[in-house]
Amino acid sequence: MLVTGGEILTKARAGKYGVAAFNTNDLEITQAIIHTAEKLSSPVIVQLSEGAIKYAGLSDLTNLVADLARRASVPVAIHLDHGSSFESCMKAIRAGFTSVMIDASHHNFADNVRDTKKVVEAAHFMGVTVEAELGRLGGIEEHIVVDEADAFLTDPQEAVQFVEQTGVDYLAIAIGTSHGAFKGKGRPYIDHARIETIGGLLSIPLVAHGSSGVPAYIVERLRAAGGEIGEAAGIADDDLTRACQHGIAKVNVDTDLRLAFTVGIREVLQKNPKEFDPRKILGPARDLMAELITHKLTVLGSVGKA
Ligand code: 13P
Repeated sequence: MLVTGGEILTKARAGKYGVAAFNTNDLEITQAIIHTAEKLSSPVIVQLSEGAIKYAGLSDLTNLVADLARRASVPVAIHLDHGSSFESCMKAIRAGFTSVMIDASHHNFADNVRDTKKVVEAAHFMGVTVEAELGRLGGIEEHIVVDEADAFLTDPQEAVQFVEQTGVDYLAIAIGTSHGAFKGKGRPYIDHARIETIGGLLSIPLVAHGSSGVPAYIVERLRAAGGEIGEAAGIADDDLTRACQHGIAKVNVDTDLRLAFTVGIREVLQKNPKEFDPRKILGPARDLMAELITHKLTVLGSVGKA
């Protein structure tokens, strides 16, 4: 069933588990997400970035996701990931999104409050819940490039003021994670003390961006199938479990599905150079994404929570 992000995330925060928000661009990714969530009786969030919308078309992709979401046996929200403007958020809501993120985190505090508040007021009027971000992540994602040195973590007192002044429904906090497949050498850092402090001050659901695990076996399979990737590293499973105990309720994952999709395709084509049936090429990619999704939902503790 199609529900708001707020409905899913408020329960998750109260129940101390996390709900995965997976990015999609197409049919195979969307099916892997929603069908796996159904199989495991888990709520889930399907999110579209502005890049995904540009690639697949707002109406085409939203209608595809919304149809699967409405028919799903579990709660599903359609979320705009990193909305860059009021207009972008309004277009998404009009197309059928039930949750939007306004990302004005690159602005100063006052301007972030101003932009977020404007979206919150309009979205609430239309029954849609809103995510905003305070602080900055390192790493790179589509149009967002934040220099590692320029990234700064969320200040707990500012987070309280921000929520009071904007009325935002869930807040993305910068806790050391970053977007992409390269989150640091060895075991990437995650600031648990900061999560605990902010989680203690705020009762709304908190959001962790950049939460892909970048599993070693997927990286190895990518290399074995001819892919090239540097020193990839993601967020450890037990770090996510711990974060969800202290207020993180929405866990954003994009890179893991990108990796699984690519490995699936590479392996088929490497093994069967004569193959040209798209279903035989994309099918295994969908299966491999479903495996990673199963693992993530289990780690976050949302299995059986639908
Ligand atoms: P990853 O790059 O770790 O998958 O993070 C995605 C994300 O945060 C989307 O908003």
